Amino acid sequence: MTQPQGKVYIVGGGPGDPELLTLKAKSVIESADVIIYADSLVHPSVVDFAKPGAEVHGSKTLNLGEIMDLTLAAVRQGKTVARIQSGDPSIYGAVLEQMRLLEAEHVDYEIIPGVCSAFAAAARLKVELTVPGGPQSIIMTRAEGRVSMPDGEQLKDLAAHGTSLILFLSVSRMVSVVRQLLEAGYTESTPVAVVYRVGWPDEIVIRSTLSDIAEKVRDGKFTLQALVMVGEAMDPNLIHQVPTAANGVASSHLYSSDYTHLYRTGDGESPDDEEGGSDGD
Ligand SMILES: C[S@@+](CC[C@H](N)C(=O)[O-])C[C@H]1O[C@@H](n2cnc3c(N)ncnc32)[C@H](O)[C@@H]1O
Repeated sequence: MTQPQGKVYIVGGGPGDPELLTLKAKSVIESADVIIYADSLVHPSVVDFAKPGAEVHGSKTLNLGEIMDLTLAAVRQGKTVARIQSGDPSIYGAVLEQMRLLEAEHVDYEIIPGVCSAFAAAARLKVELTVPGGPQSIIMTRAEGRVSMPDGEQLKDLAAHGTSLILFLSVSRMVSVVRQLLEAGYTESTPVAVVYRVGWPDEIVIRSTLSDIAEKVRDGKFTLQALVMVGEAMDPNLIHQVPTAANGVASSHLYSSDYTHLYRTGDGESPDDEEGGSDGD
């Protein structure tokens, strides 16, 4: 009789704090026979949830072939594999090539989303990335380095939109990043935060502006495992501004007493636009 194949779970391990694992991720880790985790950015305590006897491998020194060999050998023995990635697997997670190989081998797999480091950093900074009356979009990208960027996705192209901008994998190139952001239209006074290893015990947060962030990062001496968060949303003073009719500081409509939407009738005029009928997001 042939052994039924096992299953692979590609699991978002979150930014580092094990309490930011989802319940589903935790239960997959608890029941997995084999765990292969990105030990550069997934906190080792995440693996403490493994059942006794589970086989545990760190992946930072493995190449794709070695990871797949471990995975396929386990699956062919009917075992369950948890492949734990940092943050959410869909962002710079190198999962596409893993999924292609699993598809080619007809292996059953499922993805469990995780808390992306960008959102953990936003929480740490206590910011809303979409600012009422300000930027309503978020660009997540990286600076060009060993990986070249496609046409239209150079920093200068993306930065021209003036959105909240979150850079992964870019903190080692701060001088060039700042130069490109300034050329694209952000100004010396644009707020920037650099968040190193958010959710880890050695986390560092630097808040400043484009005028001196490169120097501060250089002085902090970290060259990886950090996010660069740029734009008005990162202004630490926003939280102290009180919206009035006169000062142009806005609040969102969503909880405004005069705003009508699908779930609530406000005491103002009923809007006739699409947003008034929206689901209140
Ligand atoms: C290969 S990417 C993986 C991103 C991950 N999939 C996510 O959703 O956060 C690694 C980069 O993500 C960012 N990153 C991941 N975890 C981080 C953390 N805990 N603190 C700060 N930056 C982090 C850094 O820019 C790092 O260089």
